[in-house]
Amino acid sequence: MIELTELRNRISSVEDDLKSRVQTLNTLDALEAFRIEFLGRKGKISELFKLLGQIEQGERATAGKLLNNLKQEANAIFASRQEDLGSAALDQQIASERIDVTLPGVYHPLGHKHVLTQVQQEIESIFLRMGFDVAAGPEIEDEYHNFEALNIPADHPARDDWDTFYIDDKTLLRPHTSPVQIRVMEETQPPVRIICPGRCYRRDTQDATHSPVFHQVELLWVEEGLSLANLKYLLEVFIHEFFGEGYETRLSGDFFPFTEPSVQVHMRAPRAKDWLEIMGAGMVDPAVLTNVGYDPEVVTGFAFGLGIERMAMLRYGIDDIRLFFGNDLRFITQF
Ligand code: DAH
Repeated sequence: MIELTELRNRISSVEDDLKSRVQTLNTLDALEAFRIEFLGRKGKISELFKLLGQIEQGERATAGKLLNNLKQEANAIFASRQEDLGSAALDQQIASERIDVTLPGVYHPLGHKHVLTQVQQEIESIFLRMGFDVAAGPEIEDEYHNFEALNIPADHPARDDWDTFYIDDKTLLRPHTSPVQIRVMEETQPPVRIICPGRCYRRDTQDATHSPVFHQVELLWVEEGLSLANLKYLLEVFIHEFFGEGYETRLSGDFFPFTEPSVQVHMRAPRAKDWLEIMGAGMVDPAVLTNVGYDPEVVTGFAFGLGIERMAMLRYGIDDIRLFFGNDLRFITQF
């Protein structure tokens, strides 16, 4: 037999145990294990119910009531703790999955046109508007187009300037875009009006003003009745379009095997003191016209070759040609 007082004591010790430990449980899994410990089939509360049979007949109803109260209380405690932990878990989930719509998006950098490409395209568009076509020729060139047809025979000292990277005895990386003049004239009859932008190669050691790889734009206009005056006017239009109004242009004597006369073109910025050399030019040498089957008694023409890097350096005040080829985005994205 078990006294009712004894049962009361056991009930209150289970109750104390339950109440003191429930607050320390921090996960739903731990709470469930705890619930089974008390309310499971073999749990502490179920065990107490088994004692009912040992309670005196007259006190069983009271004992049953006490036990049911305990069970109800335990269920209520678990339910409330479950709710707390459940909403804490939800809070945590919400917090961890939260999307901060004010965060900056993922940066996908867009490509950027290289300043040399920009300058080249701008030069192209200026001449396209004046009725020129854009021509192209191979970067691996043969000696005939690179030298002989341009009136630079094998033993001519001027050849040294353009002697460059040979692939074999007769083939080389072109040191200038002038051979494209020959290729275009070989394939078309006058009038010819083209520009040819392109990459060139020279046996130059790299420094602030030299690069073994660089870019030129070649221009060629052949037609009846062209003179140096037409060249000068064309240059002035171009320089005003590219650099701005107020620039002066000056021609002075020079020598190129493929032009006669040959000139150096200088320009001077408004209010500036110094003249800057910007390109070589001249009237196409009659020998060159003859080489492509044109009659120099009927047509005349002029040509020039300018460096794209040099134009970009003058335009933007860039003082080192190596910057163009360094691939440093801090430089490239400035333009
Ligand atoms: N081809 C020359 C060079 O690379 C530049 C040049 C000068 C081109 C005079 C021309 C010209 O068409 O007429 O230095």
